[in-house]
Amino acid sequence: MSFSSLSNPELIKNSSFINGEWQQSQSNFDVFNPADQKSLGYVSEVTPEQLEKSINSAHAAQKEWRDKTVDERSAILRKWYDLILANQNDLASIMTAEQGKPRKEALGEVVYGAKYIEWYAEEAKRINGDYLPVNQNGRRALVLRRPVGVVTSITPWNFPGAMILRKAAPALAAGCTFIVKPSELTPYSALALAQLSAEAGIPAGVFNVVVGSNAQPIGEVLTTHPKVSKFSFTGSTQVGKKLLSQCASTVKKTSMELGGNAPFIAFEDADLDVAVKGAMGSKFRNAGQTCVCANRLFVHRDIHDEFVAKLKTKVEELKVGEGNQEGTNVGPLIDEKAIAKVEQLVAQAIETGAQIITGAGRSEAGQQFYLPTILTDVTPEMDIFNSEIFGPVASIISFESEEEVIKLANQTEYGLCSYAFTQNMNRVFRLTEQLEFGMLGINEGVLSNPAAPFGGVKESGMGREGGRWGIDDYLETKYVCIGDVK
Ligand code: SIN
Repeated sequence: MSFSSLSNPELIKNSSFINGEWQQSQSNFDVFNPADQKSLGYVSEVTPEQLEKSINSAHAAQKEWRDKTVDERSAILRKWYDLILANQNDLASIMTAEQGKPRKEALGEVVYGAKYIEWYAEEAKRINGDYLPVNQNGRRALVLRRPVGVVTSITPWNFPGAMILRKAAPALAAGCTFIVKPSELTPYSALALAQLSAEAGIPAGVFNVVVGSNAQPIGEVLTTHPKVSKFSFTGSTQVGKKLLSQCASTVKKTSMELGGNAPFIAFEDADLDVAVKGAMGSKFRNAGQTCVCANRLFVHRDIHDEFVAKLKTKVEELKVGEGNQEGTNVGPLIDEKAIAKVEQLVAQAIETGAQIITGAGRSEAGQQFYLPTILTDVTPEMDIFNSEIFGPVASIISFESEEEVIKLANQTEYGLCSYAFTQNMNRVFRLTEQLEFGMLGINEGVLSNPAAPFGGVKESGMGREGGRWGIDDYLETKYVCIGDVK
């Protein structure tokens, strides 16, 4: 795949976008297609001076952006949304080329990401304050909600478009300015969004993209610069903890969407076909490379064998291949490190007693393709139970009682997403109260929705993205007390 077939070649940019301008530098890095490991092109490394400029210009642009009427901000955002939809085919091609996901999923992500802009273009009109009762005559008490200021962010490679828009849309709607450092593995999607932001009329300095292959020094500036008020991160818990501690030096507001170890529970009364469909959607989407992927599949012993047989049939129907090939459901893993990690987890599980039902090895489709895999007899002692797999491996654990499975499900430092399949309404309420996760899907394996709060508890992070909760993360609450009112 090359980018020469795009209808809008203007979407391919190869440098940072700062203060409305494309900023080249002397040093470049390559971006590779994970399906064949060939270079797609090179991108300019952001320099320390350019990085500083991005923060200064976002800071300078914020007042004017904040002071626009809400109708103006909303209309500009809506234009960005329209342009993304108009370019959705090209954006999906870029995404499949640099990330590997099947074209249908890439198109789905482009539209899903754009929907955050549409949603927040409307929500901008509902940033309301309060008029409070007072404790003394002659006083008035108001509560205002003001944009936090300059927001910086670091986003991951698994959703190269939507994770940016899920942050940028509420930030811009709230009146903040925004700088994102996308993953060095998938910068082209971010740069294409920047191009469309400029075409939409988003003023210079309001939306900036800084690209670089060495995340550490860039992250340090984005998390410590005194002109930055808020930092938002999606990525691993390990990196999130480090970034969070850096943010402490200037007491930045933070949003952290970190790792997960989602339990998927199929109870004895589950509709088996619904549960298998849920498992397929949750586990194999994006080749298992999502933070919300079912990571531990707990299946009641009474339905275990039937569930495994039905799942095996569906898993063996999956077509592994390059994302643009007709019918592909499972693309490559992002890089050699990712596939080696999956191999190691599977090998350790097998050595310690897990059974292979299907898969468990690299696919003939190419170096970075892993076969959709099912393992049974997984136990809490195995690494695969305790680590985020980030690959197309369903690891199944048999259980006997509700009490036991809730305890096992909660036996993790993570708390992002969970899934349960049951027909028992009383049990549903017990699960909503007892599962220690920020999100719960009941008889549903894919929850994403721009109107809903996405986020985790425990070491899966803090803050929520989406819905009315998502914009709160970009607003400060200001109390104004007026005295001597006659
Ligand atoms: C994620 O893996 O963090 C995003 C998944 C989604 O939005 O559905």
